Amino acid sequence: MPRTPIVAGNWKMHTTVPEALALVEVMRSALEPITTVERVVCPPFVALWPLHERLRGTSIRLGAQNVYSEEKGAYTGEISPLMLAGVVDYVIIGHSERRHLFGESDELIGRKVRAALAHGLQPILCVGETLAENEAGATEAVVRRQLESGLAEVESLEHVVLAYEPVWAIGTGRPATPEGANAVMGRLRELIAVRYGAAAAEAMRILYGGSVTPENFPSFMAMPEIDGGLVGGASLKADSFVALVRQAAATT
Ligand code: PGA
Repeated sequence: MPRTPIVAGNWKMHTTVPEALALVEVMRSALEPITTVERVVCPPFVALWPLHERLRGTSIRLGAQNVYSEEKGAYTGEISPLMLAGVVDYVIIGHSERRHLFGESDELIGRKVRAALAHGLQPILCVGETLAENEAGATEAVVRRQLESGLAEVESLEHVVLAYEPVWAIGTGRPATPEGANAVMGRLRELIAVRYGAAAAEAMRILYGGSVTPENFPSFMAMPEIDGGLVGGASLKADSFVALVRQAAATT
């Protein structure tokens, strides 16, 4: 069974609510018919509900950029999976900016993944090494540790998506090579096969992220292990996001 590609736009801390609504309005009619690709937009939290309303009845999916691991309680400033359930389909967990700027641990990320799944949300679990780790030859050890702790106590991968995002490639204009990313993602798939079996590994969608643009994306999508993109900067412009979705659709 071929895997359905996913192109997910991580808008990060960009767009006011009116800007988010305007961006989705411009992209909507171009994205709607491309049903061979899952198209996901991940705006800031305050835009989720208005976009949910605006995208109701369309095939464009919404994702959150983060979630907390508890359902409710005295956690000032946090958003729970219970609050996101029914509003979004996906949630990005363990993005390198959460890990490195906000000090999220492997263990917390694992709890967030379990909490998301328990509430019917599909985690996009991000893994990736820093430049220093890459230069020290530690890439495999790092992504393996992040994978194992991110999926600790997770029994089924049916609703999980992985993203390999080398930290040094994010927002730098310096993407990984398609071959290099493909090799790491192939290794991730092998690790999944060992723990969850060949069928689960074969079905798992693994996205590449890090300075994806319409110029470089086709060569990533040509790689056998790469099932789509988690896109930052290029997802904030309607033209480039639509171009990326079309490029993914051309591989199906
Ligand atoms: P970028 O970000 O495409 O701007 O490099 C990717 C990401 O952080 O998911």
